[in-house]
Amino acid sequence: MAEMHRLRGRVPFWDPVVDEIDGRRIRVGERWLIDFASCNYLGFDLEPEISAVIPEYIARWGTHPSWCRLVGNPRLFAEIEEELAELLGAEDTLLLPTISHIHFSVLPALAGAGAVFLERRAHQTIHEGARMASARGAQVIRFREENLSDLALKLAASDRYPRVICVDGVNSMTGNGPPLAELADLAHRYDAVLYIDDAHGFGVLGERSVDELSPYGSRGNGIVRHLDHDYDGLVLVGGFSKAYSSLLAFVACPPEIRHFLRVTAGTYTYSGPPPVASLATAQAGLRFNAAHGDERRAQLYRRTARVLDGVRALGLDTLNTTGFPIVEVPLADPDLIEPLGRFLFERGILATLVPYPIVPRGETGFRISVTAANTDEEIEELLGVIAAAADRFPLRRAADDWDPADAPTTT
Ligand SMILES: Cc1ncc(COP(=O)(O)O)c(C=O)c1O
Repeated sequence: MAEMHRLRGRVPFWDPVVDEIDGRRIRVGERWLIDFASCNYLGFDLEPEISAVIPEYIARWGTHPSWCRLVGNPRLFAEIEEELAELLGAEDTLLLPTISHIHFSVLPALAGAGAVFLERRAHQTIHEGARMASARGAQVIRFREENLSDLALKLAASDRYPRVICVDGVNSMTGNGPPLAELADLAHRYDAVLYIDDAHGFGVLGERSVDELSPYGSRGNGIVRHLDHDYDGLVLVGGFSKAYSSLLAFVACPPEIRHFLRVTAGTYTYSGPPPVASLATAQAGLRFNAAHGDERRAQLYRRTARVLDGVRALGLDTLNTTGFPIVEVPLADPDLIEPLGRFLFERGILATLVPYPIVPRGETGFRISVTAANTDEEIEELLGVIAAAADRFPLRRAADDWDPADAPTTT
């Protein structure tokens, strides 16, 4: 953690206080920055039709239910769970406040004293959940998505049950999805549950259709539907804190797993619920998504394509191979992250700096996330700043000889 700690105090937008926002422009102290670090992909955080519903919900339900779910469930939970199951095309769903709550309780409950097969690049919160599973007796075995024959060998060699294979849906740094069909096949063959964290894909990617408005697909119902897979043997985890700009998360699973989790997942039994304003914006978001989501996604696709085209026209490398609105630009020299961070800040861009151990050391750089609420003018300004950064810093070139499989890993 020393590298992350060093950035604090040396890079002005590492852990900053934001004083004010105006659309996707934010003020940190005296400086206005364009926000390319938000994962509010659909721009629902700024949508008046969604925020307008909050007072009515609070008038009916108060500000916060306060009961843990086991003690009392405002009807809103059941309604959202049903609407969500319909959108996903899943048998059932279970809501908890955040994805972190899910990884910290659902994953250990599913793994029991068996085994967690953990993809090395999976989000840090899954790694934390795996540590909790380990404390309760599960064995944690790591693998890389690029090497599924190694995973097959590890599954074949293990005699631990139950077993859970954990991966990201859309990866939060690369913007790329997992080899879902191959993973599901291995899970089926070796009697494992495939556990997918689609925090980023949900709301952006969705089922494919001939009349879709963009290659992200329609309805934003997540990576499983996008890749035309079913939910057999699979637990999908997703949340509203990215594309839907609200605080709520879900597990999509068969009803028998849902019933099991209601008594075994500690955060269902013991944790407080999300506030009513979050339930309101999640439900209003689902309804807004049904009416206008595909137009938002088409806008998002177009703006992201412009960013990717601009980055590639500069000859720069990015890990994104899918067109998803996460564009990480790595440095050729990881030690330059501090001056690069200061440079972006001084030029008025808020990006996410990604030092080790957030990414493997060889992928240190900055991450741009694009939202439908970023304007075309903001995107042109961003590309101008990236071009200036490329003149000043050795950013990794597309032509550089680089194999992600050689990267040192975070864990
Ligand atoms: C892939 C992934 N999983 C989980 C999380 C954590 O989600 P939550 O804020 O709902 O706990 C994040 C947040 O950044 C994420 O990117």
